[in-house]
Amino acid sequence: MTPDPAAVLQDALAETRTRVRSPQFHKEYRLFLDRPAAISIVLDEVRYVLGLAPRGAAALLDVGCGYGLFTLAYSLLLPGRVVGIDWAHAKIADGRVLAASLAPQVRPRIVQGDAMRLPFRSSSLDVAVVRESISHIPEVEPLLEEIRRTLRPGGTVFIKDFNNEACLLEKNRLLRLWNEAEWRGTADAAAYVEARLGLLKREFPSESPDRLRWVARRTRGLYGARLRDASAQLFRDGRTDIEPAFHCRCPYTGYALERPFSPARLTSHLRRLGFSVRVLPPRHFRPHESGWKRNLARLLDSCVETLYPLTSPVTSLIQILALKRGT
Ligand SMILES: C[S@@+](CC[C@H](N)C(=O)[O-])C[C@H]1O[C@@H](n2cnc3c(N)ncnc32)[C@H](O)[C@@H]1O
Repeated sequence: MTPDPAAVLQDALAETRTRVRSPQFHKEYRLFLDRPAAISIVLDEVRYVLGLAPRGAAALLDVGCGYGLFTLAYSLLLPGRVVGIDWAHAKIADGRVLAASLAPQVRPRIVQGDAMRLPFRSSSLDVAVVRESISHIPEVEPLLEEIRRTLRPGGTVFIKDFNNEACLLEKNRLLRLWNEAEWRGTADAAAYVEARLGLLKREFPSESPDRLRWVARRTRGLYGARLRDASAQLFRDGRTDIEPAFHCRCPYTGYALERPFSPARLTSHLRRLGFSVRVLPPRHFRPHESGWKRNLARLLDSCVETLYPLTSPVTSLIQILALKRGT
């Protein structure tokens, strides 16, 4: 008898919860760890995405898979090869512990790597899923180029994110989040301004503490070579013409903290790359149990979905499906 995917995922989480100590794992999956029935949210979303995939799809990549719970669900529901990729070593290590709870024949491969340089052959994938990672990956252009390269003609990419630039309700939350990260730090990282200061001290050891701090404050959003070049200009000329493409990111890795974007811009970018694109109405997935609050939420969700794109300014959720043209 084929095992029930919900039971398999619930068992995997139950088995893993004591073996994975990372607080972030427990935070991200708290809902599913505390309420096993909520796993229906994951499976409903995965079934929905697979329903949009090309017929006979047999190779799927989950880009920026994190701890890989969704990757596991794809692996259980798609007969074929499923791979999750993420560049965070710690997440990959814990994701592998989670994946190890599945039987070898349905276990996805979880690999460490950079979504902007995918370690896969050209035209080797049928489906790419970019779930809540596009707003974090340092640069969108190389990511989309890599997806185009690795997808076969007729293959699809499904992009889901909660950072719709047009959503008015989100703006305050984001401003608070960015300022926190820049000046006070996040739960697992020091303030970005302090991180830049540390890098600058090593790069420009002869500069005074005051000048170093001044430059660290003026290089918000920069990382890598651009951070070095802008700092060198600032130390030399007192000004720089190098501007960040986005102002809230980790100075070491370029990881962007919830970079908002517009579905329209992303769509035209994908079209330029040779995709046919559909902006999908936002589809929310909620646990199956009832209760008036959940029913009300479902009712509101379905109004937003039915009236989309008119409702675009009230929903942060963006869902895009793009098909790589060509034969
Ligand atoms: C918010 S998490 C989403 C995780 C997962 N897709 C989910 O929906 O649960 C974003 C993930 O993107 C990953 N990420 C960011 N930049 C990346 C890159 N250049 N290559 C691969 N993964 C990246 C982060 O490490 C993080 O795990």
